[in-house]
Amino acid sequence: MLHFTKPPFNHLRLYFHQIRAKSIRPYYKTRLENDDIVDGYTRKRKENQEDRLQLYKSKGQHLLTNPRIIDSIVRSSGVGPEDTVLEIGPGTGNLTMKLLEVAKKVVAVEVDKRMVEVLGTRVSESGFSDKLTIISKDALKADFPEFDLVVANIPYCISSPLVAKFVFGGYKFRSATLLVQKEFATRLLANPGDSEFNRLAVNVKLVADVEHVMNVSKRDFVPVPKVDSSVVIIRLKSEVPDVDLNEWWAFTKTCFGKKNKTLGATFRQKKKVAELLNLSKVTSGGNLFKEKLVGILRDAGLEDKRPSKLSNEELMYLLALFNKAGIFFQDKEKPRDINASFADL
Ligand SMILES: C[S@@+](CC[C@H](N)C(=O)[O-])C[C@H]1O[C@@H](n2cnc3c(N)ncnc32)[C@H](O)[C@@H]1O
Repeated sequence: MLHFTKPPFNHLRLYFHQIRAKSIRPYYKTRLENDDIVDGYTRKRKENQEDRLQLYKSKGQHLLTNPRIIDSIVRSSGVGPEDTVLEIGPGTGNLTMKLLEVAKKVVAVEVDKRMVEVLGTRVSESGFSDKLTIISKDALKADFPEFDLVVANIPYCISSPLVAKFVFGGYKFRSATLLVQKEFATRLLANPGDSEFNRLAVNVKLVADVEHVMNVSKRDFVPVPKVDSSVVIIRLKSEVPDVDLNEWWAFTKTCFGKKNKTLGATFRQKKKVAELLNLSKVTSGGNLFKEKLVGILRDAGLEDKRPSKLSNEELMYLLALFNKAGIFFQDKEKPRDINASFADL
């Protein structure tokens, strides 16, 4: 049994008492990086030894400690006894333990080896080891095995690239129930015309629907973060528009570079004209090319429109017009890597 107590002098430290590791046996399946011990845990701790685990903000280590919220997340996810659940960032396992009670299997991806160790011990002591696979890796670099659902309190520092990996990574799953920073949830849920509407929402909406489930107070975490959180559920659309994703990402990056500028102003910028001229491999000179760009916007009735007010259908229509005129946004020879495309969202 793990007891969490907060030392009065430093709330960033959690103390783990009485983690018993007397019996040494393989107790959790791991896929570890080369230099790690696989299948088995041989480090002994003195009984009742106080074990300190410093939590790092840089790794988004805010542990969810309210059991009611953990229950609600698991219930909202719809996880059942036939499901394999992918959890990113299990930490010390507060959510993992609940998922193990309900799911067929849990695959947990955790970058911090100290957490992997604590989680392994905790799960071993609860008798759920057979159901858990730990991948001790950075979730942005790991290949995920097949899964039915994602349920996770994700590290906020990698929210954008992680969501991009789920929705554009070619994975097939029923839904992703994610606890994210409230501001990030607002951006994900924003619609054209909302002040928060942005490239993240545009890109995610192309392939997925996002539902807001509930808000979670910062007081439900240890250590207490500066911001509140929200639970959202992301479901992949069954039908996705036929659009070249590399082109789409580069196009939306151009349009939303300054999302409140009109498209006419964005496409008249000297630097942008030169960049597109180069990518499009068109022979006409700079000024002629600029006129071509603006002419397409004008004919489409979009020259004075701001991208933050446009629907995905309007944006796709515009991209198709540009491409038809031989204007491209992405170097065909250099397909974009998803992480790079979304890290700056
Ligand atoms: C917000 S905490 C959640 C912990 C636990 N699930 C909970 O709810 O109490 C995020 C966890 O993600 C882990 N993490 C951070 N960056 C990661 C990455 N790139 N890949 C995998 N795990 C990561 C952290 O070490 C931490 O355990």
